[in-house]
Amino acid sequence: MSFHFQVLLLILYLIIQGGKSAKQQKDHLLVLTVATEETEGFHRFRRSAQFFNYSVKVLGLGEEWRGSGQKIRLLKSALEEYVEKEDLVILFTESYNVVFASGPVELLKKFRQAKSKVVFSSEMLIYPDRRLEAQYPQVREGNRFLGSGGFVGYATHLSKLVSDWEGADSDSDQLFYTKVFLDPEKRASINITLDHQCRLFQNLNGALDDVVLKFETRRVRVRNLAFDTLPVVIHGNGPTKLQLNYLGNYVPQVWTFETGCTVCAEGLKSLADVKDEVLPLVLIGVFIEQPTPFLTQFFQRLQKLHYPKRRILLFIHNHEKHHLPQVDAFVHAHGQEYRSLKVVGPEDHLENADARNMAVDLCRQDPVCEYYFSLDAEVVLKNPDTLRVLMEQNKFVIAPLVSRLGKLWSNFWGALSADGFYARSEDYMDIVQGRRVGLWNVPYLSSVYLVKGSTLRAQLTQKDLFHSGKLDADMALCHNIREQGIFMYLTNQQPFGHLLSLENYQTNHLHNDLWQIFSNPEDWKEKYIHENYTTALKGKLVETPCPDVYWFPIFTDAACDELVEEMENFGQWSRGDNTDNRILGGYENVPTIDIHMNQINFEREWYKFLLDYIAPITEKLYPGYYTRTQFELAFVVRYKPDEQPSLMPHHDASTFTINIALNRVGIDYEGGGCRFLRYNCSIRAPRKGWTLMHPGRLTHYHEGLPTTKGTRYIAVSFLDP
Ligand SMILES: *[C@@H]1O[C@H](CO)[C@@H](O)[C@H](O)[C@H]1NC(C)=O
Ligand SMILES: *[C@@H]1O[C@H](CO)[C@@H](O)[C@H](O)[C@H]1NC(C)=O
Ligand SMILES: *[C@@H]1O[C@H](CO)[C@@H](O)[C@H](O)[C@H]1NC(C)=O
Ligand SMILES: *[C@@H]1O[C@H](CO)[C@@H](O)[C@H](O)[C@H]1NC(C)=O
Repeated sequence: MSFHFQVLLLILYLIIQGGKSAKQQKDHLLVLTVATEETEGFHRFRRSAQFFNYSVKVLGLGEEWRGSGQKIRLLKSALEEYVEKEDLVILFTESYNVVFASGPVELLKKFRQAKSKVVFSSEMLIYPDRRLEAQYPQVREGNRFLGSGGFVGYATHLSKLVSDWEGADSDSDQLFYTKVFLDPEKRASINITLDHQCRLFQNLNGALDDVVLKFETRRVRVRNLAFDTLPVVIHGNGPTKLQLNYLGNYVPQVWTFETGCTVCAEGLKSLADVKDEVLPLVLIGVFIEQPTPFLTQFFQRLQKLHYPKRRILLFIHNHEKHHLPQVDAFVHAHGQEYRSLKVVGPEDHLENADARNMAVDLCRQDPVCEYYFSLDAEVVLKNPDTLRVLMEQNKFVIAPLVSRLGKLWSNFWGALSADGFYARSEDYMDIVQGRRVGLWNVPYLSSVYLVKGSTLRAQLTQKDLFHSGKLDADMALCHNIREQGIFMYLTNQQPFGHLLSLENYQTNHLHNDLWQIFSNPEDWKEKYIHENYTTALKGKLVETPCPDVYWFPIFTDAACDELVEEMENFGQWSRGDNTDNRILGGYENVPTIDIHMNQINFEREWYKFLLDYIAPITEKLYPGYYTRTQFELAFVVRYKPDEQPSLMPHHDASTFTINIALNRVGIDYEGGGCRFLRYNCSIRAPRKGWTLMHPGRLTHYHEGLPTTKGTRYIAVSFLDP
């Protein structure tokens, strides 16, 4: 090993503090870049360089940024120390908007193949001075114009390149290098060429249509289709910054190096080891900005979030009068458990954006507020660890993926259109549907997200984060975050929950959630269908109290209570005629005191309930019997000692009947029950939420036994095939 080479090794070793293997140092390649601030874009660049083992020296950190001429000044002075190193190749590149797609070996090989001492990246578009176009040499194939964002060359030749620089920091580097290149003498003596076909450098400005992602086993390459090349340095210049973020998602180092946590400095890998009392203080902003179904369930989940309430500052903005009772109920029951609580109600007439600004500012102004967690009421956050999982990612801004069940609607956008609105990215569906899993850099997120308090106090200091021109609050926020060069991340590494559909939510009923069986079927099921229904569906837990009479759980208490309250609220109980003489011919009329489902406009929903939950079980219990659960009649019956205590023996005008007990014997009423005369068999203690199911015509002649005290309610349906 020559003395000369040893010196080089030593220099390189000093440059890359922390020490790198000797292997890469023999590549004679050094990366120089200018970054005055350590932005997230810079961190991404550095991680991608580390992944491929580039040696990087950063120039200008901590300096005030004055303009692109500053980069030439810094390069010129940095090169002084390398001017003697004839076999040292230097790559000069931007960093905020650059990622590497491959390593130094490939870069050096392609550089040497270019057979020039200095190679500049090429551009499709000429800038900053279009008048220089005529002076550019013609090229047979490839981009004709020089791009100053990236170039590579021998240290000695780069020194020559910048030796004439005497400009101001505010001058244009692009113009300076362009003029050197367009001077035929300098071009020849420094020996400069352009990377016309993007073998080394891909500038994305104007070229997005030519660029695709090529997935390999362990990483993703960018392929230039126009020239069929695999560029090494990817530069998101011009308005393509965001597309670069998106491409950056696919250079695996961009996220494999990123797992971390708020307390990693102390050597901890997760919050699991952190004692409750020292968990980060978080302000949770809850936003009820429009009528939203299942709000009581929302508050139950909020309450069960796996995070100590003494470490939570709670802020609730409720824009809807309609939801006052649910908010009040939660605040009354649990408000005092939180470290602090602020509720802004409809009477405060605060608009969405203003309420969000207010909540963010509460955290910003409180030096001990370490995180701000924004949670909209339509988010069904099923994962109680969400807050911890997000904190452990150690990001400025991060959201968990939530989407509408079975739909592509979610809380993020994969890309932005030129005018800043939604654009679908190539991977959007794969991310929503979980076929690609990871931590994604996205241009827009909403509904639920976590922001570091320190970020609010350092970068996002602007009071009015949620306004920007005519954009709505979420788009304004994301616009303002992007403007600050802060990355927004989305994780789909775990299931977190889903988004409710708010369309078709009517607020004209007492219990509007009952009507949500079409719009939000899963949430409807969770609220209203008995937890042991699925067991019954498997044939277990189904009892047979009388011959051919089945008995199984179907409704939750909430379903029973809300249906009864809905009927009482409607109030028009009447002595109806529930046999159908059209079908039964001569059978006797048996009137009950009842309200029919259609009287409260619930028949479509009831039919859907029968189809989804009763039909499958009939097919199970009466093999060979298939039903479309056409129902002739569906109603809620009220039995009271002084009104109608019982029902005389009768046949039902149905193929079979279901009879769901809606309240509790011994508590809500006494007596009651059902007797099947032919079998002399009675069910005297109906269970709330359980249904009887029995054949109607012919065999199951039955009577309603007298209710002796209180009020008994049952929901009855006559079903036909
Ligand atoms: C970088 O260097 C390390 C240690 O020498 C090595 O294990 C790793 O494979 C290298 N990475 C690449 C992409 O070459
Ligand atoms: C650079 O030098 C090589 C020979 O080393 C020569 O073939 C090539 O034409 C030169 N390029 C320019 C632009 O002068
Ligand atoms: C469901 O069944 C289990 C086991 O039989 C029982 O412990 C539980 O109480 C049932 N749930 C309800 C709501 O009745
Ligand atoms: C019906 O059963 C009860 C006891 O469960 C019995 O006392 C009664 O005599 C029976 N009636 C008939 C008609 O068999």
